[in-house]
Amino acid sequence: MTEPINPPPRLLMGPGPINADPRVLRAMSAQLVGQYDPAMTGYMNETMELYRGVFRTKNDATLVIDGTSRAGIEAAFVSLIEPGDVVLVPVFGRFGHLLREIAERCQADVRVIEREWGTVFTPAEIEAALVEHKPKLLAIVHGDTSTTVAQPLEELGALAAKHGALLYTDVTASLAGNTFEADAWGIDAVTGGLQKCLAGPSGSSPISLSAKAVDVINSRKSIEAGIRVDGDAVSAQPIRSNYFDLSQILDYWGPKRLNHHTEATSMLYAARECARLLVDEGMENAVERHRMHGTAMVEGLKSLGLVLFGDQSVRMNNVVGVHIPDGLDGDAARSTMLNDFGIEIGTSFGPLAGKVWRIGTMGYNARRDAVLTTLAALEQVLRRGGVAVTAGSGVGAALDFYE
Ligand SMILES: Cc1ncc(COP(=O)(O)O)c(C=O)c1O
Repeated sequence: MTEPINPPPRLLMGPGPINADPRVLRAMSAQLVGQYDPAMTGYMNETMELYRGVFRTKNDATLVIDGTSRAGIEAAFVSLIEPGDVVLVPVFGRFGHLLREIAERCQADVRVIEREWGTVFTPAEIEAALVEHKPKLLAIVHGDTSTTVAQPLEELGALAAKHGALLYTDVTASLAGNTFEADAWGIDAVTGGLQKCLAGPSGSSPISLSAKAVDVINSRKSIEAGIRVDGDAVSAQPIRSNYFDLSQILDYWGPKRLNHHTEATSMLYAARECARLLVDEGMENAVERHRMHGTAMVEGLKSLGLVLFGDQSVRMNNVVGVHIPDGLDGDAARSTMLNDFGIEIGTSFGPLAGKVWRIGTMGYNARRDAVLTTLAALEQVLRRGGVAVTAGSGVGAALDFYE
């Protein structure tokens, strides 16, 4: 307790969090400035513009919410949904259930359609549900980390608009590792997190909102007592959270600089650096980097004799699921990976718990050396667990792929 924090060296190759890029950690150690210091508001404006690049949008309402990824989800939902609103949630994994849970807590009338984990919906299935339920909001996860597959979103914006719904998506696990086009795909609200392909720590949730979504949010704008001036909005049905009230948060980030929370300065520095690194690399290059290292990992895992989980045609670039070999204790093997090699890989949830490992190649760890080291260690752990493995096959296959 009296010693300074000194975490053990780890290579985080699970479904996230992953090791932060050292440049992000350095940005976080910069000195604080005041909430309305021109330097601070300048950083806020720059962060907005950088995330427009990351989300591929022209939306003015692009900023970061203080809190982990679910803070962004809660902010979007509590600000968009009024009690009794119909919300359609197609669920194909654990994080679809999270969207449902948060929408229910916002007192939405939630309608769910479900798909077996490891599969995704067809646009026709989603359109049929839009026709049947006529929701105000269609809320769907892009990449569901729990199953390692990503729902194609390209057609959903037009479908939602055709049926009078707003489209929200959670890109926490997929953003920057997989193609995402907020404007071209007609997304009204999108939220993410830093701790996966963005190469930062958890604790800040980038968000972008279309003009249509902002209108819905501002229809319930209520400026809090104590800072309200004559002419300020007071709603009879205010947004049911003060902290996550996007109508006020937008005015805090906008030219009015309304006094709201004290922006988490060190996390803002982190979020800005994550986006700066990506914009500097180029979003297409970042996606291609994740595709390349993710594929190398997949080739190596297959050569180790492991069987991939889920519909491979929609697998995320940055995380792959593999069935734990019969007779092997999956948690004991993960412990050996951690204790002997300092490498973390992931387990899974719900119907996949104890059956599937999830191995990530994302953000700072979407690197050749991280892929090869993980495969080398996994080979030894499998062998000691009694699994027949051809010596060097995993690393060899990955190297062949790279060549
Ligand atoms: C797709 C998805 N959504 C939401 C979350 C929740 O994120 P957080 O733990 O940052 O609140 C996660 C976390 O892994 C996730 O993968």
